Amino acid sequence: MYDKIMESVNYIQGKINRNPKIAIILGSGLGDLVNEVSEIEDIPYESIPNFPVSTVKGHEGKLVFGKINNIEVLLMQGRFHYYEGYTMKEVTYPVYVMKKLGIEKIIVTNACGGINKSFKPGTLMLINDFINLFGDNPLIGVNDDRLGPRFPDMSEPYKLELIEKAKEVGDRLGIEYAEGIYAGFMGPYYETAAEIVMIGRHGADAVGMSTVPETIVANYLGMDVLGIACITNMATGIQKVKHSHERVVETAKKASVDLCRWVSELIKEI
Ligand code: HPA
Repeated sequence: MYDKIMESVNYIQGKINRNPKIAIILGSGLGDLVNEVSEIEDIPYESIPNFPVSTVKGHEGKLVFGKINNIEVLLMQGRFHYYEGYTMKEVTYPVYVMKKLGIEKIIVTNACGGINKSFKPGTLMLINDFINLFGDNPLIGVNDDRLGPRFPDMSEPYKLELIEKAKEVGDRLGIEYAEGIYAGFMGPYYETAAEIVMIGRHGADAVGMSTVPETIVANYLGMDVLGIACITNMATGIQKVKHSHERVVETAKKASVDLCRWVSELIKEI
């Protein structure tokens, strides 16, 4: 795996001479942040050796290098989901590549369902911890000590310092946000009502089908993570209408106006 990662990294560095320290993974419907980026240079996933290729609607697959508010950033536009059939290693492969490209901080965004009844569709939730319900994780297997420790600490999967900074900036901008625990469920079906009751009793405020694998690997690699979840709908049984992917993307798009403002300002200060 190490050699594959380095092959991807060498390919990217051969094409693009930029040195971002911050990466942002864009969730479903949250791709508008790209409009804030100047001096763009991008690379489609399919051209990068050893990179998996994205298939889901609403996800374009490319790495976007550029500047937001004059800060160098790397955007991952389109992510890989476990439910698409990728292995956990494939889902998280880009995070390994980011690390070797010099990324130190990752902002992970997603669209998810709200379990906490004080939320409403459109709420932006700072993730302060996760519950891994995938029944799998990306660190299973022989460990490569060059990448990270066999038994990584996961006591602060979302860096407190970044959460505090995000709150400070959010307050200043008048952004309405919440805070809570994100449960990662493998999908691709939206959970049953009984599953939501169970997950809620276990302490989760929101549920989605991504983010947890990338967070695990970023922590393993020693990177700082900030997670921002966009509540696009209330979870099954709480919301009375049936779920629709189109509505999820539509709500995320609306919420992404605030998300873009927030993240654009935040990256100047982290
Ligand atoms: N559950 C899981 N994933 C989701 C949801 C949901 O309700 N909404 C958007 N992504």
